[in-house]
Amino acid sequence: MPPAPNNTSSPPHPHVFPNYETMSRAAVERLISCAKEVFSTHGPFSMALAGGHTPKRLYELLAGPYRRQMQWGRVHLFWGDERYVPHDDPASNYRVAYEALIQHVPIPPDHVHPIPTDIAPPSKAASTYESTLRTFFADRDTDQTFDVVLLGMGADGHTASIFPEDAPHESTESGLPWVKAITAPPRHTPRQRITLTLSALNNARDAIFLVSGEEKREASRAVLDATDATLPAAHIHPRGQVFWFTDKAAYEPQAT
Ligand code: 6PG
Repeated sequence: MPPAPNNTSSPPHPHVFPNYETMSRAAVERLISCAKEVFSTHGPFSMALAGGHTPKRLYELLAGPYRRQMQWGRVHLFWGDERYVPHDDPASNYRVAYEALIQHVPIPPDHVHPIPTDIAPPSKAASTYESTLRTFFADRDTDQTFDVVLLGMGADGHTASIFPEDAPHESTESGLPWVKAITAPPRHTPRQRITLTLSALNNARDAIFLVSGEEKREASRAVLDATDATLPAAHIHPRGQVFWFTDKAAYEPQAT
């Protein structure tokens, strides 16, 4: 029985690597370890993919040297958020994952569940995706959602498409929406987004963060030192564990 939602406020322990490549390799090995645990118990393995550019190398490794370590017929892929653009748009999170991973692995097409950005208006796309998730997770004997959510973090501490301006707060209340259509702050384009909510993310079993680059230093320090509760990435407390993978450019452990 997976643990209940974990609302402890303890910050994640960072796994710090010399560079983006070594960070990505460590993260893909953790991901495979999570998947193997699920395969050995119940399967299928359900994962919400991260958007942005940081996970690209992990996707490439998963499609390349690590490809045979996944039982692709027992994997289901979802997205943590999506820009409200066509799936062939360069800004599409689906396109990044398709080009780096999905087109290279033998995952059954009906196991790939993109956020439907061809449905208008965005609120209807969000409710359609919510139905997809509710149906997929309906037969579980717990409220757990994904086995793993893969997440990035922006320089402002946002994750998925949950931004500091949204004043994120966790709630163990049941029946909260799992998917929302939102308009991102002007600094983030495309602004129209569909995103999983903290309720969907925190009902997952484990979260794997991938954070790389100098521009993430300030937000990483604030999240990992638990000094700024306004940052959405600080509000990810899934049922299991948060695995935080970072390179030294984004986080330099302080000498103790
Ligand atoms: C998005 C993402 C977002 C992303 C961060 C980091 O759609 O933009 O889901 O949360 O993970 O903005 O993006 P980079 O990996 O490109 O720095």
